[in-house]
Amino acid sequence: MSAEEPKLKRDYLDVTGGWLHGLREWIDARFPMSSFWKKHVSEYYAPKNFNFWYFFGSIALLILVNQILTGIFLAMNYQPSATGAFASVEYIMRDVDWGWLLRYMHSVGASMFFVVVYLHMFRGVMYGSFKKPRELLWIFGVLIYVALMAEAFMGYLLPWGQMSYWGANVIISLFGAIPGIGNTIETWIKGDFGVSGITLNRFFALHVAAVPLVLLGLVLFHLIALHEVGSNNPDGVEIKKHKDPATGIPLDGIPFHPYYTIKDITGVIVFIAIFSAIIFFAPGMHGLFLEPANFEPANPLKTPSDIHPLWYFGPYYAILRSIPNKELGALALLVAVVILFFLPWIDRNPVKSIRYRGPLYRWVLVLFAVTFIVLGYIGMQLATLFWAEIGQRLSELYFLFFVTAWVYSKPRSRAFLVGTFVVVMIIISLLDWISWAPSIAHLKLWSWLIPFGYCLIFLLWPAAMPRLMQPKPVPERVRTKARHGTHAGVRAE
Ligand code: HEM
Repeated sequence: MSAEEPKLKRDYLDVTGGWLHGLREWIDARFPMSSFWKKHVSEYYAPKNFNFWYFFGSIALLILVNQILTGIFLAMNYQPSATGAFASVEYIMRDVDWGWLLRYMHSVGASMFFVVVYLHMFRGVMYGSFKKPRELLWIFGVLIYVALMAEAFMGYLLPWGQMSYWGANVIISLFGAIPGIGNTIETWIKGDFGVSGITLNRFFALHVAAVPLVLLGLVLFHLIALHEVGSNNPDGVEIKKHKDPATGIPLDGIPFHPYYTIKDITGVIVFIAIFSAIIFFAPGMHGLFLEPANFEPANPLKTPSDIHPLWYFGPYYAILRSIPNKELGALALLVAVVILFFLPWIDRNPVKSIRYRGPLYRWVLVLFAVTFIVLGYIGMQLATLFWAEIGQRLSELYFLFFVTAWVYSKPRSRAFLVGTFVVVMIIISLLDWISWAPSIAHLKLWSWLIPFGYCLIFLLWPAAMPRLMQPKPVPERVRTKARHGTHAGVRAE
C-alpha cells in the first residue's frame, strides 16, 4: 500500500462529502452498511486468476432479478384461470403497453437462466469447486437447481397452451409411480382428478410467491457459504494458505471491488447483447424457447402427437423415457438428479482443477458434456426405436461418468480397474438382457459398442497405461501472466 493511498481515500470520501458523507455516518451508527460493504465487497479477497467461467454466477443473479421484476409486471395482467389464462397471455402480447417485451424477457430469461446455470455448474465440476471445503456451497447450488426446475415447470403451465397442459399431465403423473401412495400424491398435487383450473391456480401461487422466496433464500445461503470458505479458482489452489504476514491478506487475492465488479460488468454487457439479440430477433428460438404447440389453447380432448418438455429438461426426460417401465424410469430420473448432491463424496480426488488431473479425466468430462447435450436433443425427439436405444446408451454414459469420477478419486491398481470394467460390463449386459426384444436385436448389438468403448478407454486403458490417470504437480500459488513476467501484477507482493 503506498503512502499516498490513505489520503486518496479520504479525498474520495470528501468528494461525496457534505450531507452524503453525513448520511453515511448516520446510517453506519444504526446499521452495519459500510462494514458489510467492506467485508463482502471492497475487502473481500478473491483469487486473482478468475477467467470468463467466473462470470456466470453474477449473470445468474442478474437473470434472477430480471425474472422477478418482469414476473411481477406479467402477474398484473395475467389471469390464473382455465378460461382466462390463454387469452390473458394474448392480451399481454398484443394490448398491454410493452407487454410483448415483458413476456419475452421472462420466457427467454427462463431459458437463459438454465444456459447460465448449466455453464456455472460445469465450471464447478471442471475446477473441482464442489470439493472440501465447498461441499455445502455445492449442495445449496444443487438445491437452487432443483428449485429452479420446479419454478420453470410450474411457470410453463401458466400460458395454458397445449404443451403446458399435456406436459404437466405427463410430469405430475410421474408421482403416481411412487408405490402405494402415488395416486394420492398425484391427486393432491393437481388438487383435482385431472389437470384443471384448480391446478393452474395453485401453480400460479407457487410460481409467483412460494418458490421465488425459496430461491432467494437459497441464493443467499449459497453466497454466505461462498464468502465463508472463499472462492475456488481455475488452478484449484486455496489462496488462504499463503497470506501476507503483515496484513493477513491472501497473496493471490485481489479485492472483489473494484477488480471483479468491473470485470463482471464486461460479462454482463456481453450477456445483455446476446439476450437482447434473442429477444428481438428470435424469441422462440425456432421452437426451443417457446414451442409452436403452446400457441394453441389447452384442449383436454386433443392429445398432441408428441409431448416433450422444453430443452432444459430434455436430458432428464430422455433418461426417464430410456426405461420402458414407468416406475423404474421415474426412479432413474430421480437418481440422475439426486446423485448431483453426492458429487463431493463421489469424486474424492484431492486435485481439484481439470488443469492438473491428467489427460483422461479431461476427456471424461468433455464426453459427459456431449452426452448431456445429446440426451437433451433426444428428449425432444419423437420416441422412435432408434432414439430410444441411443437414449438408453447415453443414459448409461451419464451414470458411468459418476462411476469413472469415483474410480479416478485415487491411484488404482490394475486389478481394481480391470475388476470395475468387468462389473460394469456385466451390469450393462444384464440390463440389455432384461430389455431384449427380437425387434431391437440389431440396434442393441451395435449400440452396445457405446458403453463398451467408454469402459475400454476410461477403465481398461489406464490399467495398461497408468500415467493417463496420473495428475500433474499442482502449483502452490495461482498461475497468472504476472508470475510469468508478461503482465504487471495487480498488487505488489
Ligand atoms: C440462481 C442460481 C445461482 C446463482 C444466482 C449463483 C450465484 C453464484 C455466485 C454469484 C457465485 C460467485 C461467483 C462465481 O463463482 O461465479 C457462485 C459460486 C458458486 N456456485 Fe453458484 N449460483 C447459482 C446456482 C448454482 C448451482 C445450480 C450450482 C451447482 C449445482 C452452483 C455452484 C456454485 C459453486 C460450486 C460456486 C463456487 C465456485 C468457485 O469458487 O469456483 N451455483 N454462485
